[in-house]
Amino acid sequence: MTHFLDINKTAPDDLRAILNQAAEMKAARRDRPKGTPDALTPLAGRMVALIFEKPSTRTRVSFDVGARQMGAQTMVLSGADMQLGHGETIADTARVLSRYVDLIMMRTFEEDTLLEMAEYASVPVINGLTNRTHPCQIMADILTFEEHRGPIRGKKVVWMGDGNNVCASFIHAAGQLGFDLTFSGPKSLDPEDAFVGEARQKGARIVIERDPVAAVEGADLVVTDTWVSMHDSQSSRERRHNLLRPYQVNDALMRAAGRDALFMHCLPAHRDEEATSAVMDGPHSVVFDEAENRLHAQKAVMRHCLGV
Ligand code: CP
Ligand code: NVA
Repeated sequence: MTHFLDINKTAPDDLRAILNQAAEMKAARRDRPKGTPDALTPLAGRMVALIFEKPSTRTRVSFDVGARQMGAQTMVLSGADMQLGHGETIADTARVLSRYVDLIMMRTFEEDTLLEMAEYASVPVINGLTNRTHPCQIMADILTFEEHRGPIRGKKVVWMGDGNNVCASFIHAAGQLGFDLTFSGPKSLDPEDAFVGEARQKGARIVIERDPVAAVEGADLVVTDTWVSMHDSQSSRERRHNLLRPYQVNDALMRAAGRDALFMHCLPAHRDEEATSAVMDGPHSVVFDEAENRLHAQKAVMRHCLGV
């Protein structure tokens, strides 16, 4: 069974194969109307379930469109509307869904929910974001970086702000694909030590630099994300904003990063909070390429999981 649960649980060669296939499939689709299937439909006859226990625009639409382009049928399920939201166990849900569908993508809160789904499902399970990680996002981000700047190996990525789920998957990717990552944010919002330690053990240079201007020096890529994630309590909002304000990505910070630095944000963005509109819409920004590449990267992830 080939699940896609996290970047640090997928072998580097497999990550590279997924990225190569994503680039090939993207090129092959060029100029094809959005509603037409791909020339090759490796998922023909397959049924894909997309389960959301949190809101989503990009993940929902890109998985749905991508699966259909490859010939699959899809269903989008809201966790709250399923018996899952009314006391049925994850294990039973996993066993039942496996009798109906060939592939499950799940966005949930606790990582354990996803892991239990994967343990009891007899079909592959893909992580569409948990409180702890967001691997599909980072596959799209690496694809985007490499389209603009070539191989990411040895490059310097700077994560600005909250050491959250998206940051965690970037740290995993640094370990697996061999790039440097500097985290710049307040100590209380540091990424998990275990993730940092693991990436370092794999040879990645992971640096913690509290000064945002010093952090971005020589950056090939500056990345940020919302200051309040979906799983964060609304009561922490003010505290988080106060802690994170010095880490806003604005024109001055991008100037310090240098002319060739790219800017990424997984979206949805809170414009003029974590990043200014000038940066979001400015010359460094590739945020809409990232959003598009969710589609192409995830198509390759689905093929990897199904072995087709
Ligand atoms: N970046 C991302 O996962 O967006 P959605 O929450 O809209 O799916
Ligand atoms: N860190 C954000 C990412 C949204 C795609 C969240 O978890 O809400």
